[in-house]
Amino acid sequence: MNTPTLETGRLILRKFTEYDLEALFLILKDEEVNRFLPWYPIKDLEETKKFYEERYASKYAQPQAYAYAICLKEDNYPIGYIKVDMEEHHDFGYGLRKEFWHKGIVSEAGKAVVEQVKNDGLPYITATHDRNNPRSGNVMRACGMKYCYTYQELWQPKNFLVEFRLYQLNFTKEDNWMYKEYWDKYPIHFIEKL
Ligand SMILES: CC(C)(COP(=O)(O)OP(=O)(O)OC[C@H]1O[C@@H](n2cnc3c(N)ncnc32)[C@H](O)[C@@H]1OP(=O)(O)O)[C@@H](O)C(=O)NCCC(=O)NCCS
Repeated sequence: MNTPTLETGRLILRKFTEYDLEALFLILKDEEVNRFLPWYPIKDLEETKKFYEERYASKYAQPQAYAYAICLKEDNYPIGYIKVDMEEHHDFGYGLRKEFWHKGIVSEAGKAVVEQVKNDGLPYITATHDRNNPRSGNVMRACGMKYCYTYQELWQPKNFLVEFRLYQLNFTKEDNWMYKEYWDKYPIHFIEKL
């Protein structure tokens, strides 16, 4: 099972291909869209190709992965991305071109991806967002995730201190099971009253 195409009311969620490099570049080059992401805005198509190979083509070569382009049905052109990793954290992440924010697009995509990974038997997903990026937490809650704790990390490669909020959604684990990896790894951690 690798990134099976999904359809929602307004969207097609599908694999990126090497024909989507220009679309991917438009997503990755924007300063604001990439501010809270663990990479710097991409400068040109050559860097985009490298990004595609490292973060998409290599995942599509694995037996199981969820690494989607978010496209509107009318043109099937990628305007964002959404993924769930297969590493132990099963990290859920997303990004969307700014001109498409405030329309519920990522929440719509997120609900479909969450349903897919649940049906495919993943035990849980986690997601983290910078406290200064609360819009991302809104998407997590819209997808049914619950806040668990906050931790401080000297974040790389941007090398500044970030307080991340960890959200989680359990599928096969019992409701109150918590992914404690970041809590154990980072000594500054606490639970906020949200
Ligand atoms: C995080 C990010 C994806 C959120 O985008 P978004 O458009 O706010 O997300 P949603 O899809 O949940 O849309 C919710 C908004 O759409 C509105 N909306 C409009 N139509 C809607 C509909 N049919 N259904 C649901 N919401 C709808 C909601 O009211 C809400 O409005 P608001 O923006 O005024 O609060 C976006 O800000 C982004 O790409 N940021 C940069 C990348 C990033 O930070 N990624 C996360 C790293 S942890």
